[in-house]
Amino acid sequence: MEDRFGHRISYLRVSITDRCNERCTYCMPRELQEWLPRAEILTYEETLRIVRVAVGLGVSKVRVTGGEPLTRPGIVPFVNELCAIDGLDDVGISTNATLLTRNVSDGVTIAQALREGGARTVNVSLDTLNREEYEEVTGRDLLLEVLLGIEAALAAGFEAVKINCVLMHGRSEEQLVPLVEFAAAKGLLLRFIELMPVTTTDVLHERNFFSIATARRLLEEEFGALIPVPEFRTNGPATYHQIPGRSQRVGFIGAMTNLHFCESCNKLRLTCDGKLRPCLGSYLEFDIKTVLRAGATDTELEGFILDVVERKPQEHDFRTTYQPGRKMVAIGG
Ligand code: 5AD
Ligand code: SF4
Repeated sequence: MEDRFGHRISYLRVSITDRCNERCTYCMPRELQEWLPRAEILTYEETLRIVRVAVGLGVSKVRVTGGEPLTRPGIVPFVNELCAIDGLDDVGISTNATLLTRNVSDGVTIAQALREGGARTVNVSLDTLNREEYEEVTGRDLLLEVLLGIEAALAAGFEAVKINCVLMHGRSEEQLVPLVEFAAAKGLLLRFIELMPVTTTDVLHERNFFSIATARRLLEEEFGALIPVPEFRTNGPATYHQIPGRSQRVGFIGAMTNLHFCESCNKLRLTCDGKLRPCLGSYLEFDIKTVLRAGATDTELEGFILDVVERKPQEHDFRTTYQPGRKMVAIGG
């Protein structure tokens, strides 16, 4: 599948729930909102059907996300079925890691069950290693659970455990080096992400914004000049640098400041309530659930997906717009 701008679509991010056990300020709007009613959420069977059709069109990688995907009952059998889809060779999970240690059966953690089911990678959201700050960012005092969750993921033998750190002015400065050292000690791939204006635009104000260039400069003060590794890529928009004298690499996701950010975009998103989104940073979304529930054939679903790809914008609109009515937690981070 290719869009009008030559983006080749091979990656589908699938949100399976808008619910989360945390309350990150940049992901959820401040005022408490209702969760979506159950009937609005795609059943696992519906999600699997859409994924199968998308795989038939060239999708080879799926990332399961939320909200917090591990809050949805039945995720383990769902991921097993996902991994069994012919032609889908890479399934990953995005999680806040708080629930990875949960037991699914005697002595088997959910992390192990997901790995055994065929999931290859886990991406963990972790912005700070300071317990008080963790609580301020996420609204929950769960840093210890996250650290245990990361251990559970490592013990389960995932091919990669990645840490995603969203950069925040006045917070991240002191955390960059500790996070790099933590990642080095545990063998984790750390990526720094520029905050995107999903719930409010004030993150773009220079008082709040923290760029990857600043993160890089602060890291260079500590470690010396970082060495670009342009040939190392992970199927997403991150660019990687090596810490001098180490084999460790860190990634930078410059969603706001990298003007070429969207050029290599290979993604579509499926929201938990059955909307296909050609771009995270655009209002555009297309209701595939209604078509599916009205009895569409696989061929009709294919046509629908190809149509959405056709409308994929050249680049995101985050610099000029935001979407207060559509919380990140429901789109899928
Ligand atoms: N800007 C950047 N990243 C975000 N995430 C959630 N909301 C935002 C935002 N507004 C990240 C989470 C997680 C991933 C799923 O998305 O930190 O790493
Ligand atoms: Fe939950 Fe992740 Fe959103 Fe935080 S960023 S509220 S952990 S879904």
